[in-house]
Amino acid sequence: MICCGAGNSELIHPAHFARCARLKKLITMRILITGGAGYIGSILTPTLLSQGHQVTVLDNFYFGQSTLLDCCQYEGFAIERGDCRDEAVVKPLVAKADVIIPLAALVGVPLCNTDAIATRTTNQEAVEMLCRLAGPDQWFLMPVTNSGYGIGEKGKFCTEDTPLRPISSYGITKVKAEEAVLARKNSISFRLATVFGLSPRMRIDLLVNDFVHRAVTDRAVVIFEGHFKRNYIHIRDVVRAFLHGLANFDKMKGKPYNVGLDDANLSKLELCEVIKKHLPKFVYLEAPVGEDPDKRDYIVSNARIAAAGFKPEWGLDRGIQELIKGYTIIRNSVYSNV
Ligand SMILES: NC(=O)c1ccc[n+]([C@@H]2O[C@H](COP(=O)([O-])OP(=O)(O)OC[C@H]3O[C@@H](n4cnc5c(N)ncnc54)[C@H](O)[C@@H]3O)[C@@H](O)[C@H]2O)c1
Repeated sequence: MICCGAGNSELIHPAHFARCARLKKLITMRILITGGAGYIGSILTPTLLSQGHQVTVLDNFYFGQSTLLDCCQYEGFAIERGDCRDEAVVKPLVAKADVIIPLAALVGVPLCNTDAIATRTTNQEAVEMLCRLAGPDQWFLMPVTNSGYGIGEKGKFCTEDTPLRPISSYGITKVKAEEAVLARKNSISFRLATVFGLSPRMRIDLLVNDFVHRAVTDRAVVIFEGHFKRNYIHIRDVVRAFLHGLANFDKMKGKPYNVGLDDANLSKLELCEVIKKHLPKFVYLEAPVGEDPDKRDYIVSNARIAAAGFKPEWGLDRGIQELIKGYTIIRNSVYSNV
């Protein structure tokens, strides 16, 4: 990187960065994140800000969360409380962005099943609107679920060429949003495995987070479809995948990328064995108490993103240790004395 005073050095002194307008312009991007106060956004937003980017978050704070308070210290942080489906709100924000990251969604099948119209308008139509409002040179980085791989592909590694055939409204609307994003010139889509790990806007409904929470608080879990395999990725590796996409955009654009841990294509029972290593008193039993709405039972290849130079840093063991510490802090005890 060449800039005034810094020569050809790869290492830039922070004081020099603070002074050097040319350098800032070279590496500072204006990034719009819808849903930036959610589980993923609450880690992604401060990370991008700490790297010197200007970040605008549009969020309706659906969960009453205050997870971005720490971001307000950054001059480059702007926040808009509003609805990602409202064109009057979205249009001026899109006009000011180099990069658009659409995270806003009703996430997960149970939430989507409470409101079919909000699911379609938020998860799909709001993203289609972003694509319509953005110019061809603006960059999109889009997360989608890989859950639709589950249908009819049992026992076979799913690649990005394996058709996504989701059956839940959550999966269907996310796949349609991906189609809209990938129909543009400058877009990358990340097909995320089930995410785990701590975030200030915590989601205990995600599989690993849920099982570890039960193991810590109840010491037991009853599993259905225990041999069904899924794959997993830590939230900080999801954020690192977004950073990798930004840094390698020209090389990676135009394609979807699976993002998961190669060594964690595990069944629910195998996942419980890993948790038990850390919490030996954990007991798990199998019983026909439920059914996966997306029929997820699949193993995924992450070879494409690995070939693009991305390597996850957080294995399951490290993430479980992190979660155990976090659950020492978090207690769902509003209606209990302990
Ligand atoms: N967490 C995962 O395992 C996972 C896996 C695959 C894909 N994804 C995708 O990543 C994205 C973020 O997921 P998450 O886990 O952070 O979920 P989340 O529910 O924590 O975050 C969603 C955010 O969107 C906001 N939001 C909801 N409706 C809105 C609206 N109408 N206008 C403005 N903001 C609105 C919420 O307030 C919240 O901050 C989603 O698009 C999701 O589909 C997540």
